[in-house]
Amino acid sequence: MSKKLSDDMIIDELTLDESALLDELLSELGESRRRFIGQSSTGVLSALVLEFLAKRNAYAAPVEHSLAPAADENAVKVAFRVNGIDKSVAVDSRMTLLDALRERLTLTGPKKGCDHGQCGACTVIIDGRRVLSCLTLTAQCEGKDVTTIEGIAKGETLHPMQTAFIKHDGFQCGFCTPGQICSAVALLQEAKNGELSYASTDFRQKPHSLTLSDDELRERMSGNLCRCGAYPNIVDAIREVHTGKPSDPLGQRDGEQGGNDHAAV
Ligand code: FES
Ligand code: FES
Repeated sequence: MSKKLSDDMIIDELTLDESALLDELLSELGESRRRFIGQSSTGVLSALVLEFLAKRNAYAAPVEHSLAPAADENAVKVAFRVNGIDKSVAVDSRMTLLDALRERLTLTGPKKGCDHGQCGACTVIIDGRRVLSCLTLTAQCEGKDVTTIEGIAKGETLHPMQTAFIKHDGFQCGFCTPGQICSAVALLQEAKNGELSYASTDFRQKPHSLTLSDDELRERMSGNLCRCGAYPNIVDAIREVHTGKPSDPLGQRDGEQGGNDHAAV
C-alpha cells in the first residue's frame, strides 16, 4: 500500500532516469520538487512518471526506419530482369535470390519456409524453369529472366493456374501458394517439352508433349509442401489447366470415399 514518504526515501526509490523525468515533469507543471514530493507517495510518483512517458512517446516524432542496407562485404552488382522489368542490385556475393527479392526488391510473394531447399515455398521461375530461390545466389542471376508470383498475372487478368487454384480451393492459409503456382506453371512447360520424371513409365519415347496422369502431377509437385494439406485440390487445379478439361470442384474424385483426403502430392 502506498504511504507518504520523506523526500530522501522517495528519491532513493527512483532511478536516475525517473528522477530526471520527474524534474522535467515538474517544470512542465510549474511545481516545486520539494512541495510535490512532500504530498506524494511512491505509487503516485510512478504513475505520474509512466503517464508522462506515455504522453511524451505519443507525441514523439516517428522514428524513421531506413531500409537502406548496411554496407555489403564482397558486394557484386547484378543486372537481371524481374517480372518483365530490368533491375540492378548491389548485393553481398553470398546473398540468396530469395533474400534479394524479398529484402531488396520488396517482392514478398516468394516465401521463406525452410530456407534449406526442402519446402518449395520460395519457388520462382528463372528463364522458364522452376528453381528454389533460397538455394540460388543472386550473383548467379546476371542477365536472367526471373518471374515471381507477382509477375504471373497479366495486369488485372489472372493466369489460368491462379484462377484454377481459386476455383478448386487449392489453398487454405496460402503460405505455400505462391511457390505452388510458380511450380505448377513451370510444370506445364515441362510437360509440353516432353520432359520425363521418376513417375514416367516409358523412357524410350522421343520427347513429345505429354499428358500427365495424376500420379505424374503428384510426383512433379512433390517438392512443394503444403502444411494445410490442400494437395487433392491442388492436383485438381493443375489437372484442369493441364488438360484444358474443366471439372466440378465439388465432384467426387476417383476412388474417393468422402472426407478429407490429405495424401501428399
Ligand atoms: Fe526454399 Fe523452403 S524456403 S525450399
Ligand atoms: Fe497453407 Fe499450403 S495452403 S501451407
